[in-house]
Amino acid sequence: MTMRPLLIANWKMNLNVQDSCSRAKKIVAMIARLSPIERKKLPDIAIAPSFSALHPVSMILKKSSHPIHLASQDCSWMAKGAYTGEESAVFLQESGVTYSILGHSERRIHMSETDSVIARKVEAVLTHTRSVPVICIGERSEDRHGPRRRKAIQDQLRTATSFICKEKPKRSFVIAYEPVWAIGTGVACAPADCGIIYALIVKLLTQKLGEQYVSDWCRILYGGSVSSGNIAGFVSPGISDGGLVGTASLDASEFFRILRRIS
Ligand code: PGA
Repeated sequence: MTMRPLLIANWKMNLNVQDSCSRAKKIVAMIARLSPIERKKLPDIAIAPSFSALHPVSMILKKSSHPIHLASQDCSWMAKGAYTGEESAVFLQESGVTYSILGHSERRIHMSETDSVIARKVEAVLTHTRSVPVICIGERSEDRHGPRRRKAIQDQLRTATSFICKEKPKRSFVIAYEPVWAIGTGVACAPADCGIIYALIVKLLTQKLGEQYVSDWCRILYGGSVSSGNIAGFVSPGISDGGLVGTASLDASEFFRILRRIS
């Protein structure tokens, strides 16, 4: 990975429009107080509010002195049509979205999303938009130990990246390794353990895409109880290329501290 690290705030369904806007304004203001030299060292930043807050938050981020990307927490596998309740990646792009989180474990668990549905969403984003898919994978606690862990990662990765591996579209994509047992629990994966999965993901993608393609187009993030106290251990070569942050990103000051730790 030769790209700048990436930090994504995933606000999930925690903040209404008003609270999302006030958090976004605080983050923009804290970044604006940094010197130009400090700002240059920041990682790439994206914020994923709930759908209803995307447009108002995008208006705030547009005024930022430093680029902050807007991310969606999901999107449809179809570009347009009679799919009541779905949201098109094309429409999301029109609302300012440039990253789309796909296949988060909460969607797999609570909304029964399967690997093949996630694969179609990745294809939709890469086919119909210029956005970057953020593909979430991670083992459940029952698969945490032994060979089942490797198999869970391998199976999820293989299906979710099938379009990328077949078409090699020369487009940025992100894999977010988020062990389910670490999400929202306060118990993060050990960085060295994360490094084992990082190496596995790189190896599997390299077999399909080649070393150069992977280093030019792919970033691998860690997610699961990330905080300002542990982020530095994760964002280092061979461990991860950034973080997907849930709980800790709900507090603007804590999110800003996380940004500063990896600047
Ligand atoms: P967490 O969530 O930081 O609260 O563990 C991470 C995520 O679900 O993306």
